Amino acid sequence: MQSRSELPLPDDSALAHSRRVVDLVRARLAASGGWISFADYMDLVLYAPGLGYYSAGAQKFGAAGDFVTAPGLGSIFARCLARVAGDTLEQMGGGVVLEVGGGTGALAADLLQALRTRPPQRYLLLELSADLRERQRARLAAQVPELLDRVQWLDRLPDRPLTGVLIANEVLDALPVERFTMQAGKPRQLGVGLSGEELAWSAADASAALEAEVRTIEQDLGARLPDGYSSEVSLRQPAWFGALAATLGRGLALFIDYGYSRREYYHPQRTGGTLGCHYRHHWHADPFFLPGLQDITAWVDFSAAARAATAAGLDVAAYTTQAHFLLATGILQEMEAVTEASPARTQAMAAELRQLLMPGEMGERFRLLALTRDFVPAGELTMRDMRPGL
Ligand SMILES: C[S@@+](CC[C@H](N)C(=O)[O-])C[C@H]1O[C@@H](n2cnc3c(N)ncnc32)[C@H](O)[C@@H]1O
Repeated sequence: MQSRSELPLPDDSALAHSRRVVDLVRARLAASGGWISFADYMDLVLYAPGLGYYSAGAQKFGAAGDFVTAPGLGSIFARCLARVAGDTLEQMGGGVVLEVGGGTGALAADLLQALRTRPPQRYLLLELSADLRERQRARLAAQVPELLDRVQWLDRLPDRPLTGVLIANEVLDALPVERFTMQAGKPRQLGVGLSGEELAWSAADASAALEAEVRTIEQDLGARLPDGYSSEVSLRQPAWFGALAATLGRGLALFIDYGYSRREYYHPQRTGGTLGCHYRHHWHADPFFLPGLQDITAWVDFSAAARAATAAGLDVAAYTTQAHFLLATGILQEMEAVTEASPARTQAMAAELRQLLMPGEMGERFRLLALTRDFVPAGELTMRDMRPGL
């Protein structure tokens, strides 16, 4: 992780934008007695309309942005998901694909291109950001114009349950989390206040929900968390999975993200938690650096996610590493198909595969959680079943 002084500074207009975001946080602090929870802070700086990191026009994705996600590396990741989605829809006799948080539109475009001989009835994109919607529309119009009329943008989940495949790549890590630190055997809630003129961490008594969740974690671990131990919990996951579960009438939901099962997440040696920020390809731990200009994220507790999903009536069909998911769903065959058709791409494909599969890259720290309702996939989703560790 890097310190503030090592990070590059933005231009004047970006700095002015960040100051407007800080003013918004200050106004919220003033209206809330000088303290807001960290999840509320994340909500503001990431999603406030027109101002938040994901809602405003910053570049975000790719080499000129802050981070790269799997769909930005090339088309192979999308082609594997297309295989799973296509087979699932065929097995169910048709249905739709719903992608949550579509980023640049690369996944949607590459997936639809791979499915052009057996496209879904509709491709729904749940996208909160007006800026990203426009980028997605442009990408799809350029790459799969013949399928554009099947694409529909949503700003909230559909009212009626759907049959099909739901995909959320790197969305769970963007859900606002609460942060806590243990003190005298009890969790203290780390929220946000002012230190002089600056936004800063501010500790308060933990909310009842946060305290209960920390006690559940301790029960699961069979040990108390020691004083000084700090980490995060996602108190919003149960409601979020509840809403998603109501949307999935029948079919398969795929969540891919960096994360751990609970025992790894709250490992005694991980004393500082997993919260981090992406800013121009630097990874650092200061969520108060240039609010609105950087991504803030926490790793996913997949045990909690699976628990929330099963409480909402879904079944856990698979939990595994990204590498074992992609190998089971045909990444090597897809690579062969691409390099046979265009041998000049062999080197680039090898690099893409390395990033997606190697343990030191995305292969091991990214996980797949596959959930189903009223559906049993005919094909394998993994070569390594990690569900017992959840
Ligand atoms: C790290 S980006 C990943 C984007 C894309 N899936 C990819 O792989 O490149 C996180 C995305 O999740 C979206 N997101 C976060 N919370 C969301 C929510 N509650 N509903 C829908 N999208 C959400 C953000 O707007 C953003 O597009």
